[in-house]
Amino acid sequence: MTLVPPIKQQGIKTKLVDWIRGVCVDQPRRRWVEPFMGTGVVAFNLRPRAALLCDGNPHVIRFYEGIQSGGITAEGGRSFLVREGEELSRTDGRHYYFIRDRFNEAGDPLDFLFLNRACFNGLMRFNRDGGFNVPFCRKPNRFAPALVTKICNQISAVAHVIGSGDYEFKHQEFRQTLGEVRKTDLIYCDPPYIGRHVDYFNSWSESDEFDLHALLGRNGARYIVSTWLRNRYRVNGYVHSLWSDCSILTRRHFYHVGARESNRNAVHEALLMNFEAAGSTPVGEFNMDALDMSTPGDGGRDLEFRQAAC
Ligand SMILES: C[S@@+](CC[C@H](N)C(=O)[O-])C[C@H]1O[C@@H](n2cnc3c(N)ncnc32)[C@H](O)[C@@H]1O
Repeated sequence: MTLVPPIKQQGIKTKLVDWIRGVCVDQPRRRWVEPFMGTGVVAFNLRPRAALLCDGNPHVIRFYEGIQSGGITAEGGRSFLVREGEELSRTDGRHYYFIRDRFNEAGDPLDFLFLNRACFNGLMRFNRDGGFNVPFCRKPNRFAPALVTKICNQISAVAHVIGSGDYEFKHQEFRQTLGEVRKTDLIYCDPPYIGRHVDYFNSWSESDEFDLHALLGRNGARYIVSTWLRNRYRVNGYVHSLWSDCSILTRRHFYHVGARESNRNAVHEALLMNFEAAGSTPVGEFNMDALDMSTPGDGGRDLEFRQAAC
């Protein structure tokens, strides 16, 4: 069963964990390095013996460092969420904005968890000053006992994984992380996609993409990069140009546009690797035109991306 982390984020790779695991089966004893760990869902499911997990967002790193040090526990999380959840109900949601102001002043990781699980669409978004700015997602009894238990179980599961390996968390830019890799590491990169959602911790430019490619190629460590390949309207041109020295695996997903189940669009995701994996093809031999962009009317059987619901 997939371990779902307590923190949510747009672009979370929960549905891709098994696919990524399949690419790593022949690399069991390497240190796992993630310069863009986000929620950590990939590492926490692959459970490498040793890992260096980094992100440019300090709040994510502080939260997992808190779990690692024992400062954040399932029981502590429970009493915090119960107490603040009751205040939220009592104030008809106004308490959310009190916590948001408090978090933007002091950056407490439990406030971060509270906001992350009560905000609109589970979005993680920060304004140009680095302040969390997502509004409240109104729901009766927002922190119902079943949800609090679920979140606390998620904290326990992550604590167990972190405690059973040699894990290091670092708040740093990807260039710094890639400067620390060893030749024997396996690097998994899931950077923001160019042209998608942008905020204080999530802008991504062409020069970032070029630097990522150059730094990954520098010391010979094996790497895997997640990216998008094609949707109905656009093709990711960097795959056949910048990443043409890689091998590629692709997979189709569907996502919703608007609320209607019938409004589904196909998007092809890609894993780019500097090594051969089972079923992979050199990028230069990969035929983009052969990709199936149809949306089968199967009532949702293939549906992997749903519009996030809070
Ligand atoms: C697509 S998300 C990663 C999602 C993650 N794989 C998951 O499944 O939860 C991209 C992450 O990169 C981080 N990030 C963006 N720009 C960065 C940079 N220049 N250096 C390091 N991390 C960065 C963001 O904070 C975000 O957490």
